[in-house]
Amino acid sequence: MKTLIKNIKEIVTVSKNSKIKKGKEMSKLNSLKDAWILIEKDKIYDFGSKKDLFKIKQQKINRTIDAENGMVLPCWCDSHTHIVFAGSREKEFVDRIHGLSYEQIAKNGGGILNSAKKIKKITEEELFKQSLKRVHEVIKTGTGCLEIKSGYGLDTKEELKMLRVIQKIKKHVKIPIKSTFLGAHAIPKKFHSDPEKYVDKIITDMIPKVAEENLADYIDVFCDRGFFNPKQTEKILSAGLNFGLKPKIHANELDFSGGIQIGVKMGAISVDHLEFTGKKEIECLKKSSTISTLLPSTAFFLGLKYPPARRMIDNNLPIALASDYNPGSSPSGNMEFIISLGCLKLKMTPEECINAATINGAHAIELENKYGSIEKGKIANLIITENIPSISYIGYTFGKSVIKKVLINGKIYK
Ligand code: NIG
Ligand code: FE
Repeated sequence: MKTLIKNIKEIVTVSKNSKIKKGKEMSKLNSLKDAWILIEKDKIYDFGSKKDLFKIKQQKINRTIDAENGMVLPCWCDSHTHIVFAGSREKEFVDRIHGLSYEQIAKNGGGILNSAKKIKKITEEELFKQSLKRVHEVIKTGTGCLEIKSGYGLDTKEELKMLRVIQKIKKHVKIPIKSTFLGAHAIPKKFHSDPEKYVDKIITDMIPKVAEENLADYIDVFCDRGFFNPKQTEKILSAGLNFGLKPKIHANELDFSGGIQIGVKMGAISVDHLEFTGKKEIECLKKSSTISTLLPSTAFFLGLKYPPARRMIDNNLPIALASDYNPGSSPSGNMEFIISLGCLKLKMTPEECINAATINGAHAIELENKYGSIEKGKIANLIITENIPSISYIGYTFGKSVIKKVLINGKIYK
């Protein structure tokens, strides 16, 4: 079964080696103008420009998709989401309009603890239904690789429920999904007087059970002021590593928490958020292969300061962009908007943002060998845009999608 995509204005992120893009490399987007792509079953079989059209002539083509002069990009790789959650938290959104901060809301039992209450009340089946709907929605906005965290259970039974829902979603959708155990997302109320007890519960009860059922690929801790400190984070991550769970952590969103340093020390694949990143943190990241994942919609939605993306790029770090889709700090998984925010608020160029949302995002969930760029043999999870004047138009226009078609495994999804 061969599918031809013809009349492509430009194929963007043509790559030969799937390598992560660091620093200056992020500003380069290889592309091919006046092009075509040939897909065989679910993979990119070949691509070329008008002058290589002869290559197609020898092929038996079963189906043709006319790109109508749109651009073709790899689907977004959203490497950080909390898309499995119950209900919504727009009341807190209004509380913040009236002046309460995210941390004040959390201290009053709102925030993550509010979502935890809702998780307790919902059945696994209903949670699956609500979450699956969101996953289908984000695929339609061009997301073709996804990471999903637990972390609204905060109790063994409920955390396992969330992770089972993620596992079920993995089986139901055609995009690759990585799951992350985030039992250390917040300290439940009943452990407030003795947080170490909750840390012990995570280590001795939750992690072994998560591993036994093989429910997670990664382990995460919210290492920040008012949540988990570096010492607790290290203990939890070490316990996870003993069960083969690699770290990917929330760090330095609310303060210089030491989370970046602990993440690097523990060999985290990525440290995520990083609003509070100074010279020390950058020096530490420079000596590591840990990816810096920035989540600009969270700073946008909560009115936080933005991470110093420019300084990080100038220091040759690799940056990934992700949505952080969750009910409290980023109730959207729209990666086109993330690219707009990357340009407008992080002062990253459109080219840097696209690399950060595709190949670097794929690296942040270890899917770079099959996804994240246009390469022969990679899975054909592709975006076809409208006829846009240039690649910069994607970040420039916001509130309106330029995505016309989404292909998943070589088949039209939208
Ligand atoms: O990544 N920072 C920690 N966790 C989430 C927010 C969770 C919530 O408020 O529900 C985040 O922003
Ligand atoms: Fe998050």
